Amino acid sequence: MAPMPDVEVFAHETLGKDLYALTFASPIDLRAGNYQPGQFLHIRVSQSFDFLLRRPLSLCYADVDQNRLTVVYRTQGAGTRRLTACKPGDVIDVLGPLGQGFPIRAQDHRTLLIGGGVGVPPLLELAKQLRASGKTVQTVVGFQTAGQLMLVEELAAYGEVTVMTDDGSAGTRGLVTTALTAELCSLADRYYACGPSPMLKAVQQTMRVRNVPGYLSLEERMGCGIGICVGCVHAVYRDGQLTNAKTCREGPVFDEREVVFA
Ligand SMILES: Cc1cc2nc3c(=O)[nH]c(=O)nc-3n(C[C@H](O)[C@H](O)[C@H](O)COP(=O)(O)OP(=O)(O)OC[C@H]3O[C@@H](n4cnc5c(N)ncnc54)[C@H](O)[C@@H]3O)c2cc1C
Ligand code: FES
Repeated sequence: MAPMPDVEVFAHETLGKDLYALTFASPIDLRAGNYQPGQFLHIRVSQSFDFLLRRPLSLCYADVDQNRLTVVYRTQGAGTRRLTACKPGDVIDVLGPLGQGFPIRAQDHRTLLIGGGVGVPPLLELAKQLRASGKTVQTVVGFQTAGQLMLVEELAAYGEVTVMTDDGSAGTRGLVTTALTAELCSLADRYYACGPSPMLKAVQQTMRVRNVPGYLSLEERMGCGIGICVGCVHAVYRDGQLTNAKTCREGPVFDEREVVFA
């Protein structure tokens, strides 16, 4: 089935303060299986000329039986605030799923998922698919404060979840890297991380010391989302050379060995 960018909205729930789950018809036929956790949907939040640029939101959950996708988002600025107005029965313009998602490798058996803030949503579909492939799943999620927690119960359906908060108001006080102890990491064949760049940089450094390979999903600002505008480049190290990769097309998920942070 060819992608259908205009899709019907089925549900739009408030999950918490400034936090929403939006479920809509998938632009592609999910039964064909040609989507990956970690890919993103590029969503036109309004038909108004004030919002010409789409906003990228990660595929959080795929309901294959009903051919529906869910994204979970926190309002940040005008675009995500405008999206909150959409309601069941509305038609929205959605491109995707786009980009390169998280690979699931046959040779890995024990996986460690690490998410921070709005980097947590893609981990849900990832955890679901990893469990369905027979892997064990451990998850560490970090938020600034208890009011920002998201998807913790849903992730717990697939394995143990450790919650970290900056202020100690939920889970354990500290950054996600505080939870990445030698003991926990010794139980992982591979890690998957998504979150803001400072978190990903710290995770990359820690996991190199722990000698665990992994993937990082980068949160770059995006324009076109399809490799044309060059607005989303990130430094990578490839074939012995420092170069730029388009996060929308070549990512957002990269092998951690390639990713260079400033
Ligand atoms: C591949 C990808 C997947 C994403 N998945 C999710 C998701 O599942 N859930 C979710 O809540 N958010 C996600 N984001 C972030 C989301 O796209 C931005 O929050 C959104 O585009 C902001 O639009 P806005 O018009 O509301 O805010 P703007 O007015 O454009 O910006 C408001 C604030 O948000 C910051 N911001 C804008 N874009 C980004 C970005 N790409 N990354 C980090 N900070 C940004 C700006 O610096 C500014 O401080 C994702 C981003 C990318 C690149
Ligand atoms: S967002 Fe335009 S090239 Fe990536």
